[in-house]
Amino acid sequence: MVRLSTLGATALFAAVVAADTIVKECGVGIGNCPSNKPCCSQYGQCGVGAYCLGGCDPNHSATLKSCMPAPQCQSKTYKFTDSKSSPILSNTKYLGDPSTADWVADGQPLFSNGVVYLTMAPDTVGTVLASTRYVWYGKISATMRTSRGQGVVSAFIMMSDVKDEIDYEWVGVELETSQTNYYWNGIPDYTHSGNITNSNTYSDWHTYTIDWTPESITWSVDGQVGRVQKKSDTYNATTGNWEFPQTPSRVQLSLWPGGLATNGKGTIDWAGGVIKWDGPDIDSAGYYYAQVRDVTVECYQPPSGAQGSGKKSYQWKDLKAVNTSVVLSNERTDLASFLATGDNPDKKPEGMSSATVTSVKTDAAGKATTVVSVVAPTDSSVGTVPGLDGAGFDSGDLNGGTGRGSGGSGGNGGSGDDGSDGSSGTNSNKPATTGWSQSDKATTGGSSSDAPRQFLLWGNFVAMVLVGAVMATL
Ligand SMILES: *[C@@H]1O[C@H](CO)[C@@H](O)[C@H](O)[C@H]1NC(C)=O
Ligand SMILES: *[C@@H]1O[C@H](CO)[C@@H](O)[C@H](O)[C@H]1NC(C)=O
Ligand SMILES: *[C@@H]1O[C@H](CO)[C@@H](O)[C@H](O)[C@H]1NC(C)=O
Ligand SMILES: *[C@@H]1O[C@H](CO)[C@@H](O)[C@H](O)[C@H]1NC(C)=O
Repeated sequence: MVRLSTLGATALFAAVVAADTIVKECGVGIGNCPSNKPCCSQYGQCGVGAYCLGGCDPNHSATLKSCMPAPQCQSKTYKFTDSKSSPILSNTKYLGDPSTADWVADGQPLFSNGVVYLTMAPDTVGTVLASTRYVWYGKISATMRTSRGQGVVSAFIMMSDVKDEIDYEWVGVELETSQTNYYWNGIPDYTHSGNITNSNTYSDWHTYTIDWTPESITWSVDGQVGRVQKKSDTYNATTGNWEFPQTPSRVQLSLWPGGLATNGKGTIDWAGGVIKWDGPDIDSAGYYYAQVRDVTVECYQPPSGAQGSGKKSYQWKDLKAVNTSVVLSNERTDLASFLATGDNPDKKPEGMSSATVTSVKTDAAGKATTVVSVVAPTDSSVGTVPGLDGAGFDSGDLNGGTGRGSGGSGGNGGSGDDGSDGSSGTNSNKPATTGWSQSDKATTGGSSSDAPRQFLLWGNFVAMVLVGAVMATL
């Protein structure tokens, strides 16, 4: 989901932001990243490493090459029966090779009952799964159950690096409505929404489909067409632009606190009110959750007239940010380390060999967590893994006039020596995301839900031990 600020609101916000909030460093109306941290993340922060991978904004990074080329589409059905069926890597571990993971996670995904739970524990900003591969037109379906409760937003979207976007969103107080939307180039035009009515999205499984072709977008629920948007109806005669999503996009599944008290009023109102960190799901499971059973991606042929014939990656040719700006290339998509960038993909930290990089399998009878990642060494002055924002992926306020609120509860300094944050200090701007900071809360309350409560606790424990060990060796 994305609620982009207007240019003016963003600039104003950046000027008056409090010290412990998330400041946008790059983006429309702000500018580009400097060369020492060249990559502009999806959330508008500058860094190296994971900042230069999925979501990296080519238009606001230091150079056109700063963001790594994006892995091309591959048709596949992703199942989540256990932690290995569709590998999910933490964004603190993924370095851009799509053969190592199907999804990159920020937050805490958990496996149980043959599905993946996207969790949002009290005072966290939830969980996002993003596909490691991009789609340049295709038919994408997700079978899922949403979360519920005021201020709680579940989403299944397609998002490009220049913020073309195709959405399904569910507000936790409107469980009979699937809100659909699309954006072009991140322009905050809120007149493109449309609703599909369906049975309860929290209690019932539904298959939500986005059929995206060069000519149209069709949103269907359980195979029944709910909405069609034709490209031919999006032409802007003044500018000569087709204001239609047309650049390679990642699949993103998420649960986030639209009703965070620090978000803009318009966003909170849209989300159904300020989020409450209590209620039945928090009491029974320790967190809010959405469940995803499977995702199917059917890739369409690259558009006729597309430049290049590479089979490996999508690469930006220019910054017009339209369909002709993308080249089919064979350029690599992976970085040598979390200190590398698209401008210098082979860069490795000095002393890398002395750092411990541990990988632990946690699969217990098909029920395991993915919280096993160990962070590569980082640079103390530059963020290497971008964080979520409690206001949404790249949020402005829905009412457009007041700027956006801050997400989460402030960063941890990015020094990599803290260990109190789920990302273990890799991001200087990371808000409190799902880490063990909430494990106290997760231990209170009853336990009647079928959500995998124990695995959250266990995952936290494992992560804590691991990071403790790594910190000790660094
Ligand atoms: C590219 O950046 C310029 C300058 O910030 C901005 O005016 C333009 O809208 C941006 N386009 C996209 C697609 O981000
Ligand atoms: C869709 O439903 C939401 C929630 O009821 C409402 O706020 C919004 O105005 C609706 N949008 C459209 C286009 O009808
Ligand atoms: C066409 O683009 C201009 C410039 O971005 C914008 O002001 C105008 O609202 C657009 N027209 C339509 C119909 O969207
Ligand atoms: C880009 O969009 C234009 C307008 O719809 C179309 O004529 C052209 O074929 C498209 N090119 C590619 C490479 O998709």
